[in-house]
Amino acid sequence: RVAPALVAGLLPMAFFTTARDEWEDHLYDLKKQFSPNNPPRKERVVILGSGWGSLSFLQRLDPEKVDVTVVSPRSFFFYTPLLAGCSTGTVASTSITESMRWHLDRFKSSSSRPLFLQAHASSIDLEKKTVTCGSSAVGVSTVLEYDQLVVAVGAESNTFNIKGVKKHATMMKEVEDSLKVRRAVLEKLESANSLLASGASEEEVLRHLHWVVVGGGPTGVELTAELCDFVNSDVKEFFPGLAGKIQISLVEGTGKVLGMFAPHISEYARNKLVEQGANVTTSCFVTGATEKTVNLLGAVDKKKTFIDYGLLVWAGGIGARPFTKSFATQIGGEQVPKKGPLRGLKVDNKFRVTGTENVWALGDCALSGSPPTAQAAYQQGKYLGRLFRETNCDKKIVDEHAAFEFHNYGSLAYVGSSTAVADLKLHLWGSDHPAGRGQGDESTVLEGKGAFAIWRSLYFSKMLSMKNRWQVLFDWCMSGVFGRDISAPY
Ligand code: FAD
Ligand code: NAI
Repeated sequence: RVAPALVAGLLPMAFFTTARDEWEDHLYDLKKQFSPNNPPRKERVVILGSGWGSLSFLQRLDPEKVDVTVVSPRSFFFYTPLLAGCSTGTVASTSITESMRWHLDRFKSSSSRPLFLQAHASSIDLEKKTVTCGSSAVGVSTVLEYDQLVVAVGAESNTFNIKGVKKHATMMKEVEDSLKVRRAVLEKLESANSLLASGASEEEVLRHLHWVVVGGGPTGVELTAELCDFVNSDVKEFFPGLAGKIQISLVEGTGKVLGMFAPHISEYARNKLVEQGANVTTSCFVTGATEKTVNLLGAVDKKKTFIDYGLLVWAGGIGARPFTKSFATQIGGEQVPKKGPLRGLKVDNKFRVTGTENVWALGDCALSGSPPTAQAAYQQGKYLGRLFRETNCDKKIVDEHAAFEFHNYGSLAYVGSSTAVADLKLHLWGSDHPAGRGQGDESTVLEGKGAFAIWRSLYFSKMLSMKNRWQVLFDWCMSGVFGRDISAPY
């Protein structure tokens, strides 16, 4: 009873936040209509990436003031918060993806037609102000000139060079990764079924049915939760002889899962996963993997153990992309840390890349002081887009422009069987105006069905297109009523 009531209460609030955002942009358009000061020449803005930072930035630009080219190896934006659900079929992959061309089409104006290039940026010439982009599909490269370059290439899965992980584990970062997990899970079920029918050893059947997730951060926990949901509902129904033999193990190196939450919330998440049948092992590091075995080392007792697995998923964290590392090294100076790995591009509080001119970086590839989350990348893109349209990138005006301030609205994570955990900074909700913002760091911490209602309604309302909202709503209803699709040849 609590959940529907909360959804009913929170949905309008969530919609209000989105509508307010759109209204502010609309006000800007109205003001501009009556302003005679349009710039004489259009800036050529090249954006690298099609993720949270780039899209949010693009949506705030003024098409009358800039010529935009977006370069990304991925021709679509995807909604990362629902990626774990995509691995089990709770939502379809197409429901969380949006074509960049569709977004660019909405951006075009009478005097501007944005371009999209499906390619990897490979190098930047700071003198000539060009960026070289390679398209691996057709083996060609293109050199683009820019006036302003915005680097938002995100991060990649970090395996810390642990032996065998890259080769044998599936990552959990891109849509393709979640589809790989989905395909592997369905294949393992069918393989185990065939092995059982053929009279193969119990050991071999059990190995196929042991699925190991490494990393107890939010990615690993949400994936484990989705896998448990899938096994406890759909697998139980369609593979009744196998469901009881499946083992889902979550391995975390530190002492607790969901380390960014308060200790009692981490404990709740752990207990919830265990309650649903997962084995949760903390204080245990993965030290290597072979085709069928993953090696573990106890963080405290230094005991070496191993697990025979059928599926290994790596959710052990993120690191800088090779492109980011090579660009930072090319700039040199402050960009190269004296100790430790290079984690991203150093930027100032307006996202100007230290040691360069007319190059900006945001999101997971930038070291800006904000956490590497969609929430932060979205706010940064919004800030930078508005900064571009308000200052026309005039250095003097940019210098005087207010610095970016990150507002952490809180964290949420799904922990299975329609429960979630939430740590919300409620004093920040409902107003984007500085006068309305609370100070301090008070948290409202929730767990269970109520947190799940907030998790669903919030992530639903934050989707960037109406099309995806309807698709996701439809998928949630379909998987709730008819179960997840287990037939798809993904
Ligand atoms: P991304 O969104 O990763 O986009 C980077 C873009 O750059 C991509 O389009 C990529 O193809 C492109 N690119 C890569 N290399 C190049 C190149 N050489 N040239 C040009 N383009 C390139 N955060 C939250 O706040 N809440 C959540 O619930 C949440 N859930 C998550 C779930 C999962 C499974 C994952 C993996 C992350 C989640 N995050 C969440 C984190 C969030 O998704 C990231 O912080 C966010 O995507 C960062 O945005 P970005 O724009 O910096 O990078
Ligand atoms: P993470 O860095 O948050 O977590 C990775 C975990 O893997 C860590 O707890 C680490 O101790 C563990 N680990 C690393 N190496 C290991 C090893 N060898 N053996 C065992 N454990 C090991 O990475 P994650 O979860 O991918 O998140 C990345 C970013 O995306 C974070 O900033 C996170 O906040 C954000 N995110 C947010 C979500 C949400 O708000 N619901 C969901 C998913 C991601």
